[in-house]
Order: sequence, then structure tokens, then C-alpha cells
Amino acid sequence: MKDGVDSVKITILADDYAGYGSNLIGQHGFSAFIEVAVKDSVKNILFDTGQYGKPIIFNSKKLGINLANIDYIVLSHRHYDHTGGLLRILKHIRKKVYIVAHSLLFKPNLIKKPYLRDAGMPFKKDVLEKYGAKFVLTKDPLELVEGVLITGEVPRRAEFEKPIETFTLDDSGKLVPDMLMDDISLIINVKNEGLVLVTGCSHAGIVNIVKYAKELTKETSINAIIGGLHLVDASEERIEKTIRGLYEENVKTVHAGHCTGFKAHIMFSRNYKGTYNIIYTGYTTVFTRK
Ligand SMILES: [Fe+2]
Ligand SMILES: [Fe+2]
Repeated sequence: MKDGVDSVKITILADDYAGYGSNLIGQHGFSAFIEVAVKDSVKNILFDTGQYGKPIIFNSKKLGINLANIDYIVLSHRHYDHTGGLLRILKHIRKKVYIVAHSLLFKPNLIKKPYLRDAGMPFKKDVLEKYGAKFVLTKDPLELVEGVLITGEVPRRAEFEKPIETFTLDDSGKLVPDMLMDDISLIINVKNEGLVLVTGCSHAGIVNIVKYAKELTKETSINAIIGGLHLVDASEERIEKTIRGLYEENVKTVHAGHCTGFKAHIMFSRNYKGTYNIIYTGYTTVFTRK
């Protein structure tokens, strides 16, 4: 990747774990505030909005983050635990803001077990637009800021990385399988430091996402991944393959939380040959050019 940023600071505003001794609020969901310094300016990206906006607003105040400074919102996929806080946050920041996501953002996503429900975006597009949302919905990669790239739809290659079983509705209203093709990630290239990959739930499969990020940027390694790996229901065999896969793809550090799951945390902590960190609400990490 030719362009790079000077530094990036990532602060987790929503995660399933609040952290020991924390004064912040946890929730099932994910949201990260990403401050990117490039040349003389700073651009702020809110990556996902949790399922509730209020705790995100609360946490941001405690952490000294002013959400009114958001320049872009990126939604990793349409699940409610990543999009549910959006309306409240738009009402709070009271400004027009570009929201980047996949074109399937408003399509229902039904989960059958333990009961049939729509786990997709809880708001209508026009309601969000009324409160300042300006949608850029695309399947393709998109460079948001020089050195910051949205993957767009990720090709599914690794045989063992099947997405969770969900459904959508076809034109006649029939339930049909949904492969969660709307799952996108964010790639930040920090000058001389390498790639930082931010994921929501990694429904596309984290090894698939890493392979595609390297392909898009023509880089051979990943400095860090931060986000959810969705291994919460995965077999030990799949977790083992993921651990091996990420190491073989030259991923140096993994910062994982949200839907990664306890079993994966234990297995990664014991066996990952790179560095493994468990993230939580308020977790902060900084990457600066050398
Ligand atoms: Fe999630
Ligand atoms: Fe999800």
C-alpha cells in the first residue's frame, strides 16, 4: 500500500467485557473510536456503534473523547450489536456524517435458533438520513483517507471458515441462506509500521480477511488485528486452524474481544506464537510511524 498514516489511536467504546475495576459500561456489541493522523490533520472514524448508543456516549465522556468530532462512521456489517447505537449517536452528534457500509446493510438477517428473529439493522434508512446520515453503500474496496482502506466484500476461500447460519428473505418472502457477505473490515497502513486491521465480528472468516487485506495492499504481513473473531461457537479444530492460519499469514499481534469467545481466548493465549491480547471497553492501543 503506497499511502500511509503517521499514527493511529484506537479506543474501544463498546465490548462485551467492561474490564476489571472499570468505571465504563460493557454491552454485547462492538464499537471503536479510531483517530488517524495524516499529514497535518486528524480524521476520526467511529467503527460500529454497539447495540445501544447511550453507554457509548457515557464511555466516550469518561475517556475524554468528543463524539461530535466524528468524521466518518463505518459499519462492519448489519447485525444489531454493531448498528443498534447508530440512531442515538446521530441524535447526539447532530451533524451530517458519511456512513460507509456494504450494500446489503438494510436487508433482513434472520437467525432461527433459539427462536426466529431479525438480527439485522434495526432502523429504516430514511429515519437515519433525517438525523444526518449520508450513506455510501458499496461492495467494493474504498479508500476513506489516504492510507485507510475499507475492504468491501471479502472473498471466502478458507474451507474451515464457514459463517454462522443465518437467512434472509427472497422477493417472494421465502427464507434463503444468507452468507453475511456484508461483513467488511478496515485496513490502516501506518508508515513504516505496517497494517492494522480492524474487524467487527469477522463473519467472513479472519483468515480470509487477512488474506484479502494483504492482497489489496500488496503487503506480506499484518502488524495487528483488533476486533471480534466470532469463534464463540467454533469447534476446537476450527480455533486451532485459525491460530495456525493467522501465524502463517504473518500476523504479529492479535487484540481480540466481543464475539471471540472464552475458549478461543484460552487457546490463543496458550498457543499463539505472536502476541495475543484480550480487549475490553476502554482498551486503547496506539501505532506510530517509526
Ligand atoms: Fe457481533
Ligand atoms: Fe455479527
